[in-house]
Amino acid sequence: MLERFRKDFPVLENNPGLTYLDSAASTQKPAVVLEKMDHFYRFDYANIHRGLYNLSERATASYEAARTRIAEFIGTAVPESLVFTRNATESLNLIAATIGEQIVHKGDEIIVSVMEHHANFVPWQQLAARKDAKLKVVGIDRKTLELDMAALESAITGKTRFVCCTMASNVLGTTPNVAKISKLAKKHGALTVFDAAQFVPHHKLDISTFDPDFLVLSGHKMLAVDGFGVLYGKPEHLAAMPPYMTGGDMIENVTIEKTTYSEPPQKFEAGTPFMGGAISLHAAIDYLENIGLDRIQEHESALAKLADEKLRAIGKVKLYRKPEHIHNGILPFNIEGIHPHDVATILGDMDICVRAGHHCAQPLIHFMGEMAMVRASFYLYNTEKDVDRLIAGIQKTLEVFHK
Ligand code: ALA
Repeated sequence: MLERFRKDFPVLENNPGLTYLDSAASTQKPAVVLEKMDHFYRFDYANIHRGLYNLSERATASYEAARTRIAEFIGTAVPESLVFTRNATESLNLIAATIGEQIVHKGDEIIVSVMEHHANFVPWQQLAARKDAKLKVVGIDRKTLELDMAALESAITGKTRFVCCTMASNVLGTTPNVAKISKLAKKHGALTVFDAAQFVPHHKLDISTFDPDFLVLSGHKMLAVDGFGVLYGKPEHLAAMPPYMTGGDMIENVTIEKTTYSEPPQKFEAGTPFMGGAISLHAAIDYLENIGLDRIQEHESALAKLADEKLRAIGKVKLYRKPEHIHNGILPFNIEGIHPHDVATILGDMDICVRAGHHCAQPLIHFMGEMAMVRASFYLYNTEKDVDRLIAGIQKTLEVFHK
């Protein structure tokens, strides 16, 4: 058990009675991440890529060192293939608005899974609508809740331009087989876009094993601060794509008549970027790898499975995943006859933080025949005490509603 890591998180130390089970929405930040950012702003801060003085050079070096560290973390030797954005949502919108606009034409197809977070669904739906292209939505197996690979195989054709899929569902924790998806997409000449936002907090990622065209992640889901995201794109795609935003720091030359652009990744990083965000993700990756993602995964799975077992024992809780299919610390559930918002409100009054609602994944929630769900999501700083408090909270909820 990783109990000793809870003390690394100031929010948890400063709120001793808190049971935080909403890490899939956003993770808490360890002191070391906050300290590294603080140090950067106290000692090394200036605008980057511009100043001809030491301080700016140090700031640039820290920012670019983060790019190298994140590249290494996801398994690419090319730091320039990483574009820094505000979040995974911006990364996905960037892809749809640039190469998406370039290669999707009338009658083409874009495939998404029904499990997508709205961030990897709406940009594709809207692109398809703008281009008079077809959005094909691949379902999941109703029993296993895994991606329906047979449906994907029949959906994909020579007209498919993109296959967009999560690497870990934020509602179910399902982890699709990205190597198979990638192979299938390549066979049909389609590009892949993987949303790794819920995957990287729990697993070592090695993109060389499945060779995605694009992949996105978000810092705040993996202990870094909010407002910092990453887009990985194959260098040949990034080179051929138009910029998403224009302005300072992304140009090569500007005249009154025309502008030429910098090489990637600068071409996609207009304006002063969020340097502290990059520093924080660098520190977060060091922290996570120092503990070991395998250990983290083992810990959170053990807690989620313990919670599952105890909720099953209560008997009135609808659990969507079989214990052996609980992944990424995510435990979705419902209590018949009690609205998820009521469950979350009673838990909230007891300082137990869960998420309730459609989890930014309405197509999936509807596919599951629900309007909303409760989700407890466990991470490295949770303990068995959090499981016990969740169970006590559910028992209290049942009492309040006379169930
Ligand atoms: N995507 C976040 C969640 O799953 C906000 O809660």
